Amino acid sequence: MEYTSLRHTCENPQIRVLYISAPQSLNALNTQVLTELESYIDTLDKEVRVLIITGDGDKSFVAGADIAEMHGLNEPEAFEFGKLGARVFRKIETLAIPVIAAVNGYALGGGCELALACDIRYASDNARFGQPEVGLGITPGFSGTYRLPKIVGQGIAKEMIYAGKPIKADEALRIGLVNKVFPQAELLPAAIRLAENICAAAPIAVRYAKQCINNNYDMDADEAILLENRLFAKCFSSEDQKEGMGAFLNKRRPAFKDK
Ligand code: COA
Repeated sequence: MEYTSLRHTCENPQIRVLYISAPQSLNALNTQVLTELESYIDTLDKEVRVLIITGDGDKSFVAGADIAEMHGLNEPEAFEFGKLGARVFRKIETLAIPVIAAVNGYALGGGCELALACDIRYASDNARFGQPEVGLGITPGFSGTYRLPKIVGQGIAKEMIYAGKPIKADEALRIGLVNKVFPQAELLPAAIRLAENICAAAPIAVRYAKQCINNNYDMDADEAILLENRLFAKCFSSEDQKEGMGAFLNKRRPAFKDK
């Protein structure tokens, strides 16, 4: 697919930085951007071990779903638009590899929901997070009511969603919405450093760990513990487990092969 609203850079074959790039609307998500994002996720190179998502420019990560496109929608059209955004974000959430959101400015509405679908959120000190949809006469539509309470708890999520008031990066850090905050120039290097640390680990183990943590939410305790038990055991069928433990015992660095 030809991408007009996305661009990417490759730090190395294992780390991809994907930029949402629609500067005329502060990277708002319309059908075109979401369709490109879905295609990008669906066709991501198997060599990539960490995906970093950020926004083009220094002002906005994603300023929300595209209000100009949504303005004229009727109910069935809105259902389809919401379904598209929700599907794309679910694909990001369930992507086998870790996804880091490097939130470099406004993360409002769909932008906040995009960050929520990522595994880890780092933010620049000018970032603003919010679910301002009620002020536009709608609810969050790309799974914000589902994911925000899981991450910050129901009380804070309800306050953010009912009042629609954006919060600053330091407040996002305080409530656990982001892991770390950086001066803007340091945000991407920090996300890349984190990606490099993840890439140094055994890829199968990282993928299984993501699977366990993601599935925990929707399972009861016994099922979640059994899933971890199974995937823990499955690691022992991998060459990388022998390599990782052998390297430790021989006091050398492991050379993982994703096998
Ligand atoms: N959808 C469509 N267009 C958007 C947009 C969105 N979510 N967010 C910003 N834009 C457009 C603006 O309409 C403007 O276009 P124009 O230059 O043709 O007038 C351009 O992006 C720049 O935005 P502007 O409002 O002039 O910038 P600002 O710095 O004054 O304010 C924001 C930035 C993010 C605070 C403000 O744009 C805003 O509140 N956007 C909407 C956020 C929102 O409600 N998102 C949830 C949607 S469900």
